Formats: sequence, structure tokens, C-alpha cells
Amino acid sequence: MKHRQLLIIVLRLMFVLAFFDSSAQPSISIIPKPKEIISGKGYFPLHDARLVLPADVDQKRIALFFADAVLQQTGIDLLKKKSINSISFGYSKSIQQQEGYEISITPNKISITAKNRSGLLWAVQSIRQLLPLEKKDEVLIPCLEIKDFPLYPWRSNMLDVSRHFFTVEFIKKHIDMLSYYKFNTFHWHLTDDQGWRIEIKKYPELTSIGAWRNEANGEKYGGFYTQEEIKEVVKYAQERNITIIPEIEMPGHCLAALASYPELSCRKSGFEVATYWGVINDVYCAGNEKTYKFIEDVLDEVLTLFPSKYIHIGGDEVPKYRWQQCSVCQQKIKDEHLQNEHELQSYFVKRIQKYLQSKGRTLIGWDEILEGGITDDAIIEVWRGPEKANEAIANNNKIIQTLYFDSPMSSLNLSKTFNYDPAVANHNDNVLGAECPLWTEGITEYNADYMLYPRLQAFSEVLWSGKTDFDDFRNRLKYHYALMDKKDILYGDENKIFLNVSLKYIPEEKYWRLYEKHGINDMVICYDDGGDNHDNKPTAFSDSISLINPTSFSVAAFRHGKQASMPVNFYVEDHKAVGITPVFKTDCNKKYNKGGIYGMTDGILGSSNFSNGTWMAWLGENMEMYVDLDSSTTIHYLQINCMQQTQSWILLPKYVEFFISDDGNNWKQIAHITHTVPADDFKPIIHKFSYQIPDKLKARYVKVVATNFGKLPEWHNGAGEDAWVFADEFIVR
Ligand code: ACM
Ligand code: ZN
Repeated sequence: MKHRQLLIIVLRLMFVLAFFDSSAQPSISIIPKPKEIISGKGYFPLHDARLVLPADVDQKRIALFFADAVLQQTGIDLLKKKSINSISFGYSKSIQQQEGYEISITPNKISITAKNRSGLLWAVQSIRQLLPLEKKDEVLIPCLEIKDFPLYPWRSNMLDVSRHFFTVEFIKKHIDMLSYYKFNTFHWHLTDDQGWRIEIKKYPELTSIGAWRNEANGEKYGGFYTQEEIKEVVKYAQERNITIIPEIEMPGHCLAALASYPELSCRKSGFEVATYWGVINDVYCAGNEKTYKFIEDVLDEVLTLFPSKYIHIGGDEVPKYRWQQCSVCQQKIKDEHLQNEHELQSYFVKRIQKYLQSKGRTLIGWDEILEGGITDDAIIEVWRGPEKANEAIANNNKIIQTLYFDSPMSSLNLSKTFNYDPAVANHNDNVLGAECPLWTEGITEYNADYMLYPRLQAFSEVLWSGKTDFDDFRNRLKYHYALMDKKDILYGDENKIFLNVSLKYIPEEKYWRLYEKHGINDMVICYDDGGDNHDNKPTAFSDSISLINPTSFSVAAFRHGKQASMPVNFYVEDHKAVGITPVFKTDCNKKYNKGGIYGMTDGILGSSNFSNGTWMAWLGENMEMYVDLDSSTTIHYLQINCMQQTQSWILLPKYVEFFISDDGNNWKQIAHITHTVPADDFKPIIHKFSYQIPDKLKARYVKVVATNFGKLPEWHNGAGEDAWVFADEFIVR
């Protein structure tokens, strides 16, 4: 061979390699990995190709969806071209699997075939992943044959839009991504204690009242979707092969509905949309016929909006206490010959199941709907582990497994997600598939991307492809990181924590130090004291920063110029006991001693998050401590903050006493302070037990005793167990 010819061949080869190198376009990076890919020879020139529009309406819609996606991504308009190179869509009788598809790419033809329209759309999502992410004049697609179909028919994600509200724009982008990774179901958790998010025309107060909550800081928080918006989203999802399954929670997790229509409860009054998380005693009154009428009316409107075969009714975490106390519920138990409140729950669920069946729909519920018995045609969504899966299978139900995506990266990293296996040995026919629910107590649009990606890609591969190779997956993921960058998705790290923020008092220096640790390189951490610092702007810092006289401030993360975390708030008061080592009668519980020896005297006031390290706690015991002010000191005000979070077994002390002494042995009581907060107020409450001393007095030692509430009351789900005292900051002014 002549040198010149050889040179030309080498140059051509280099061109082809450069074009298909990993940075420009990795060879084949499809996620979830197709069952079978056979590489061919040569390339199909997408820039010189003609889309053959099918006559069939469904096929044509998918072909146009493809043309639009190609135009957006590469700038190539397949509808304008005249060429012998063609792209065609069609059904094929030889493809047996539901959702199965085949793609054949030769130098002059792309042929996409499937059993039905689902398969065609999945084929489109695969081909999109073969395209470069940049706009290009020339796009060559490698010749290959793909034969593909999913392992599990149920591949879903759930988003809780009650705890935090997500805009229609967010939901649509989310649906785009779910479809891109061949999820076929989006479970929309629309109602809960903290907000009712779906317009129901017959019950307007569900959204005028139930969609809004009054936060502790005085802000009104909420939102809802109008029926028009829901129709638009459902249609948008249908076009992307996603079935939306609405969840309307019952008979528990319904405080937002009870705040709107209190007559549907056992107690009939006294409700507000919850501003706190957990399991709430107040549920629909299951004895009252009005409840069933209400739920049927609501479902009637829901069914007109959502054509899905399945309707999710929740059914989880239903305390029975109100039903035990309610004469109407007790009468229903008698009338229906039920044994107890568990059977009342089962009666409730079965009645709704029948109603849905009469409308041609099938009920899905969380695994609690097994309690008291359920028929085998309900679908059970298992969230409490293998025991519940086995119980459901023993009852002959089909199940959906779950992997909670609200779990932090420290407990569910990418590799764990990738290695998740929803299968149940010997009974896998009962497993429809799995879902990755995202509960949003701690998640908003700021940090949802971090929680979702790239775990969502791994989960899609688990459900579609089954066992594949992790290194190969991570290699393919590179293309998808680039794609997400293009789409402004603030995806998380595969292993690393998001953000931890803490504040410490440094007694030797008499200042506070704010620490941050974050896992993602491109994250900027800012603290904002609302203008107390001079330039009125959030201040970026990394690792740690000293704060000389802080009062209140917040810390948040920013990425790519956008806020990327919920703010963490701090409140600080400098006072006479700050930095003094307190003497405790009984040490606090080891789980709640992260404030260290200065936990009660560091000037840092606890927030409503009881486990953020600022609170100290005693289980079943009083909290008793004193401080030595070093010399006789004038004092005029004493305060201790205690918390109540009844759901978490944290009750305010019965009373608080303050004492003074000159020698640390002989104490004189100067105040005995009670309170009037009911123990069954489920809101998180930070109560200040304070005493304004009428005439200033002098003392060297000051003591506080907070007397434990005692055993949890009969109505509590931990009845008879010890209560916690949670205390923070003994303030001496
Ligand atoms: C649930 O997590 N309560 C279903
Ligand atoms: Zn009742």
C-alpha cells in the first residue's frame, strides 16, 4: 500500500474514532440497558434522512414526538428532508412481549417495530440516547440491531406533593425524565395531612382551606392543581407512555380534608392543616355515612380526571384511637358485626374497593390494607419489608415493592440502588415490579434533583434490565450526566452527602463557629443574616466561619447560581450562662448529647427539628441542672426552652422550677412555672418557661428542674411508656 493511501485510511479512522469517542458520543450508552444489542457495520446519516409518517394515528403521534425530540436535541428537521434514507415505524406480530420493541439501523434505513404503541415509544427513547447532545450538521448513528423488552411490567416513581408542593412545570419535566428512562407509571401522592392538592369542584374548601398551611414563621404555604392543569398533565404523561395513578389518602393522613370539612371527623372540630410530620390521630370518621358520600363524590371527580385502571387510596398509618372513643364508629362496628377497629378499617377499605370496582377500577393501597382482611384483587404496595410482602402473597395479592428515595445518600448510595432486587423467591409472579417513592418532608424543588438522580437511572435499569454490570452502567452514565447538565438538572453525587451544617460555641475564644460539609464540588454554601452583616447579601464560605455576635441567620446551598437546598435556620442569644459548664443531676440520653457539655449553655437555641443536635433529652426522668456563675451575679430573668412533639413521645414537663443558692448546697426556690399546653396538641411546640424576677437579685448558683410528664396517656400510640423531656438552653439574663 502506498504511504498516501495508508495516511488517508489512518486519517479517516481517526476521524471516525474522534467522532465516536467518549466525550463526543460514547458508543452506546442506553439506560436502561437493552436486552440485546448487535453492532453492525457503518452508520446511518440522520442529517440526510426522511421520516415516513405512519397512517395510524398512534404511530404517527409517536413518529412526530421522535421528530420533535431530534429537532430539539440535534437541530435536524426530519420532516423537511427528501432522501432515500428512511426512518419507519410499524407494529410487528412477531414481537410477543408487552412493551417490547426492535430497532434495526442499517446505512440507509432505521426500522422501528413493536407489539404496540408503548413499545414504539420506548424504541424512540432508546434512539434518542444514541444521538449526540450537541447540535450538529452531520449526525451518524451506528448501525445495529436492538431487541428489547422489560423485566417487570410495573416501573414507577411516587412524588409526594402534599408535604411540599411541586409546580406543574416541575411535574412535566419529571414526567419527561421518567419516560426517557422507560418508567411507565407516575404515582401522584395528592392528599395528606399537610395539604390537599387537587381541585374538587363539589368541595371547594378542600383547596381554599385544605391546600394552605400556616407555618411557624407566620408564612402561608401551599398550592394545588386545578382540574384543567391535571387534565393537561395527564395528557402530557399519556403522550410519553406514563400512566398517572392518583393517590387520595384515606381513612388516615387526611387532616387537610378535616380542616376543610371537620364534620367528616369523629371529633367534629379543632383542626388545622398540619405544619408538622408524622402520624396523626384524627382520621375520617368511619362510622358516619357522610364520610362515604364525601369520598365517593371526591372519587367521582378523580375518576373523570384520571383514566388509569388503578386508583391508590393510601390506607397506611391509621391510628384507631378516635374510632375507639367515637360512639358513631362503635355503632358501625356493632351494626356491621365487626370485631374491632382493625376490622372497621378493613370494612372502610373494602367498601371503597367495591365502589371503585363498580366504576371499573382496581384499588391499590399501602400494605396496611391487609389488616383485618382484604380481597385478593387489590394491589398491595409494600413499604414495611419482606414480611408484609409475604403476607400479601400468602393472601394471593399482587404486590409492588418499594425503595424509598427520600433515604439519604449515606444509607442508599448509587451502588446500593443499583443492587436493589425486588424479587421474591419462588413467588415472583406476584411481584408486578417496584416503585421509588420520594416523600418530601425534607425535599422541595431545590433539592429534589439531588435525591432523584442518578439513583433514578439505576432504578430504571434494575426494573427494566435486571442484573447488569455496575462498572458498565457507570460508564454509560457519563452520557446521562452530560444530558442532565444540558437540562439544568442538579443531580446528586453517587456516594457523597449533600450538606451538613452545624454551629458550635468556642468557649476559649468566646465566639461561635459555623461549619459546613458538602459532598458535591460545584456547591457554594452561603449564610444570610438578613442584613446584619454590612453588604446585605448572603455570604459564601467554605468549611467554617467565625461569627462574633450572631443572632438569627440561615444557611443554604447554591449550585449553578440556583438555590439547591432548603435553608437551615439558627437562633443565637448571648447571655450570662453562655460558656459555663453545667452540672447535671442525671446525664442526658446519649442519643441527644451532640451539643456536648455546653449543650444547655452554648447560646444556640433549638429549632423545631429535635434531632439536629441542639436539644438535650431525658427519657422517663426529670431534667435537673445548675450553673456556677463564678461570683455573686445580678440576675433579672431566667428561661428554659422545652419542646413538645407528642407524636415522637416528647411531652412538655409538668412544671419547671428555678432555684438560687450562694454556696451550691442550700437552695431557695424562686419560681414554680406551669403551662396550659394540652398534651394532645400534636403541633411541634417550643415552650418558653420563663421567669421575670420582680426585683433584681444576686446569686452565684442558679438551678432549673423540669419535671417529666410521666407515662404516655391512654390515647397515645405509645400509651404507658415513658415520655421524653427535651430541653435546650438555660438562659440567664
Ligand atoms: C408510608 O410510608 N407511610 C407509606
Ligand atoms: Zn367516628
